[in-house]
Amino acid sequence: MTRTVLDVRDLHVSLRSGERTVTPVDGVSFDVRAGESLGIVGESGSGKSLTLKAVLGLLPRGGSTAGSVSYSFADGPTEVDADRVRGRGAAMVFQEPMTALNPTMRVGDLIAEAVRMTGSRRPGVIRQRVHELMAGVGIPDPERRARMWPHELSGGLRQRVMIAAALATEPEVLLCDEPTTALDVTIQAQILRLLRDLRRERELAMVFVSHDLAVVAEVCDRVAVMYAGRIVETGAVADVLRAPQHPYTAALLASAPSFVGGSGRLATIPGSPPDPRAFPSGCRFAPRCTFAVEDCRSSSYTLAGADGGATACIRPEVLAEAAA
Ligand SMILES: Nc1ncnc2c1ncn2[C@@H]1O[C@H](COP(=O)(O)OP(=O)(O)O)[C@@H](O)[C@H]1O
Ligand SMILES: [Mg+2]
Repeated sequence: MTRTVLDVRDLHVSLRSGERTVTPVDGVSFDVRAGESLGIVGESGSGKSLTLKAVLGLLPRGGSTAGSVSYSFADGPTEVDADRVRGRGAAMVFQEPMTALNPTMRVGDLIAEAVRMTGSRRPGVIRQRVHELMAGVGIPDPERRARMWPHELSGGLRQRVMIAAALATEPEVLLCDEPTTALDVTIQAQILRLLRDLRRERELAMVFVSHDLAVVAEVCDRVAVMYAGRIVETGAVADVLRAPQHPYTAALLASAPSFVGGSGRLATIPGSPPDPRAFPSGCRFAPRCTFAVEDCRSSSYTLAGADGGATACIRPEVLAEAAA
């Protein structure tokens, strides 16, 4: 069995919202092994980004967490210790490279800053390593591009720069937050291919967050579907796509153009995800669920299943009946 590199248990993230405390991430558990890619998918506002930030110790001001985040790197276990984890074992790639990259630094210097975190000091060695990293993520003519400013690069190249900087510390865990959402479809496909290749070559444990189930299906082995701060379904990507066990997953599938196909009717999920200040009681998806019954509104949350798949729906069989 390969090593579990990241283990997240019952993670809660709370934030102050005016006078009150809200909990947008409300008991999330998952693990990722070396060389494995886990997708976290859900509509905007479901708590995906906060989950990743908490895993990396990067919470917004006034944020607090409960539960546990533990890493087990090749050289031994580590409790979450933001500095240690960020500098070495884990790294993050964000959605919008233009805001994540410092616009006043040349891209070579940005990557060099990450290289220095590994302890390298000699300028010639650092420059060499920067060029290697750039070439390694498919940036042509790295010597020339290292001297350019972020705004002089295309969106795709900027995202490659961010990935190069993330890899500078040779992480074992790569956390990606919607890394291709801001890119057009062709460039998106190239970046997804790059991430897939890097994961294979470097045996990276990857967590890949997206609102798009089709993108997750391209790069991930397993998926966790998140709704209103909780994981409502998890399983092997192929199984979840073939036979979703939660009405929310089924609704996401029905609303994804690439799964419905050109001639199919695209369904939108009625309503919108709830605000963390007013999560509904019982199943949080019940108010938007076409299958909801009275029991759903008083049910308590448990993620249960077999064969590596699990659902929080108390009546998953209704989906199979509806499909038949
Ligand atoms: N800094 C913050 N202060 C207050 N609320 C926040 C903050 N960041 C996120 N939230 C709220 O937490 C919920 C989850 O946010 P987020 O994790 O960014 O969702 P996602 O990445 O799935 O779109 C949202 O309702 C959002 O409004
Ligand atoms: Mg987000």
